[in-house]
Amino acid sequence: MADGHSVSSSRNPFALPTGVAGRLAGWIMARDDGPHREAAVLLAPAPGATVCEVGFGPGQLLAVLAERDPSIRLCGADPSEVMLAQARRRAPSADLRLGAADELPFYDDSADHVASINNVALWPDRGAGLAEARRVLQPGGTLLLAWHSSSAPSPMRRALARPDAWWDELLADVRNEFGNADRHNLRHLTACTATAPPADTAEEE
Ligand SMILES: C[S@@+](CC[C@H](N)C(=O)[O-])C[C@H]1O[C@@H](n2cnc3c(N)ncnc32)[C@H](O)[C@@H]1O
Repeated sequence: MADGHSVSSSRNPFALPTGVAGRLAGWIMARDDGPHREAAVLLAPAPGATVCEVGFGPGQLLAVLAERDPSIRLCGADPSEVMLAQARRRAPSADLRLGAADELPFYDDSADHVASINNVALWPDRGAGLAEARRVLQPGGTLLLAWHSSSAPSPMRRALARPDAWWDELLADVRNEFGNADRHNLRHLTACTATAPPADTAEEE
């Protein structure tokens, strides 16, 4: 699905961290976990729940969730080997793998939550990514897609905020795949949440 505001580029060390620049980008991203603390509150996984993170970067959300409740089972996929190494150090108990949104290396119905922070605008095919999130989610499981908000305290993050029209398009795509979607205007993040449909309707399309 086209993203008219794409920041995805193999030369952008924040979008796809590689080499020394990628390691530095991971270090910079990890200095501020305010957005991830905010996302963890919205996600609110129950004790023992499985959370799958798409594009975990240096692993701040994973670390926040592990600290809040060690019984939460964490897994995730990111295409960057540099981020995989940093996130494994930050969340050693998580099952972290190389992979991308449009081909998640996890079983059907294996997660209670799929979360993606500051990542969804980088997906080259949003429709494929949403279909993968729905496949991995158990019926009734929840999706959380969040991106920098225009009220973020950091000017660098604020500059990456997306216009309302972009969010309207994202919510329409999520409704198309999940049958529902809600927008949340938070401080660090703008977010979209959705609930995976029951098993009987999940097979209808
Ligand atoms: C800006 S960083 C955000 C990292 C972290 N989630 C955060 O909140 O700081 C973007 C991350 O998305 C990953 N990424 C890039 N393309 C991706 C794709 N198609 N699917 C999943 N992750 C992707 C990158 O490797 C990088 O770790």
